Amino acid sequence: MSPNTQKYVMAIDQGTTSSRAILFDHSGQIVSTGQLEHEQIFPRAGWVEHDPKEIWRNVRQAVAQCLAASKDINSSNIVAVGITNQRETAVVWDKTTGEPVYNAIVWQDTRTDKICDELAQGDDDRFKERCGLPLATYFAGPKVKWILDNVDGAREKAERGDLLLGTTDSWVVWNMTGGVQGGVHVTDVTNASRTMLMNLDTLDWNPDICAAMGIPMSMLPEIKSSSEVYGEGRKGGFLVGVPIAGILGDQQAATFGQACFERGMAKNTYGTGCFMLMNTGEEVIHSRNGLLTTVCYKIGDNKPVYALEGSIAVAGSLVQWVRDNLGLIKDAAEIETLATTVDDNGGAYFVPAFSGLFAPYWKDDARGALVGLTRYVNKGHIARAVIESTAFQTREVAEAMAADAKDADIELTELKVDGGMTANETLMQFQADQLGVAVVRPKVAETTALGAAYAAGIAVGYWDGEQDVIDNWAEDARWEPQVDEDERERTYRLWQKAVTRTFDWVD
Ligand code: G3P
Repeated sequence: MSPNTQKYVMAIDQGTTSSRAILFDHSGQIVSTGQLEHEQIFPRAGWVEHDPKEIWRNVRQAVAQCLAASKDINSSNIVAVGITNQRETAVVWDKTTGEPVYNAIVWQDTRTDKICDELAQGDDDRFKERCGLPLATYFAGPKVKWILDNVDGAREKAERGDLLLGTTDSWVVWNMTGGVQGGVHVTDVTNASRTMLMNLDTLDWNPDICAAMGIPMSMLPEIKSSSEVYGEGRKGGFLVGVPIAGILGDQQAATFGQACFERGMAKNTYGTGCFMLMNTGEEVIHSRNGLLTTVCYKIGDNKPVYALEGSIAVAGSLVQWVRDNLGLIKDAAEIETLATTVDDNGGAYFVPAFSGLFAPYWKDDARGALVGLTRYVNKGHIARAVIESTAFQTREVAEAMAADAKDADIELTELKVDGGMTANETLMQFQADQLGVAVVRPKVAETTALGAAYAAGIAVGYWDGEQDVIDNWAEDARWEPQVDEDERERTYRLWQKAVTRTFDWVD
């Protein structure tokens, strides 16, 4: 058999629950995959950690699995690797030993609520004009401050210049490119825009915010575009000599993979959480309705493209919680089977404020609530309330987005969707009903990994540019709104009432 001379691009998706490697061909189709879940560590209520070394091990194994699954393909067939990642999760490590000084503090972790209150000095939007973000436990900067303030010896080492910080993209790339033997310490503009430390207009680290958080600037990675060659797989390691040529935070990667290249195009990814991003072009739009302003992508030397984002902390992770903590279902897909045993939610509303409430409320001290219970409510109704909570939360951020976009003459006309929960047709129909616009799912549902692959492939000339992404995108399914308007408003009103029941819960 003659050797395979085809070329492919690999994406590494370092997500909240697992690390995956996916190989794509030139038409954007999946050739093979590898995946390993990592431990979710909950040391206390509200705290969520990952072991960075387990993550790095799993990345390597996922790549090995992916290559093993595609018999005649090896690293010589791979023209580039793109990295995408859970954003905001902060890792601090010693550059002389390669050892993390503490577990990664995950984006869902709420331990920095007091730090955020102190930094706010009475104004949660103290840094928002510069970084696009309110002071909230979600973002990486305050998590790094917590590590420096609480881990023995960490601040001294940081001040000596021995420690590096990064989101998990930086951690993976540093290790892939040699670690203690000259690893490249970089991040891209999209990940940097989730730290609170980057100035959105200049795309540079902001020395004033770093000083306010007590973070030495020597710890920071170099900020790069989302599509360029940062380095290559290290000698003696894996993917030797393959250029690492794309980095995008996972939600921005999905926006790119969904071909949302025009102002007003929006996508919603239903993963652990749920994240809606709307492309706002080269304009930085500061939200007046509780959304984030973030960098959407920057391709090489092109100008950056920005987005408005509505972040929801808990979506798929509520289904996992119902499976693992309540035992109501055995696998995640069963939530739909259970929900369709009843016609409606029976009056029950589930507000999963497990990490406080993110957009559009930004209430760190909210906690989850299941309300509207009567003896009538059964597990089918609860399953339906679980599904509906994702759609209601999405409607809240969509309404905030519509209000912000209106000021800039942009209109949301349809919503592209992706992520595991889009297999749930009951949710997708309810989502279209609640939004009042069509919900559209693409044929290749792995848009996050695909977006990172495109960014890397474009950097090395495997794809020419955005037109290839548009040409490869194809519609799989579409849900049009069907519900009666009165019913739509009645259920949403009750949802909003339920949300108020979660406020001010933490002492
Ligand atoms: O901002 C957090 C986000 O990047 C995590 O995404 O897909 O792991 O829920 P996901």
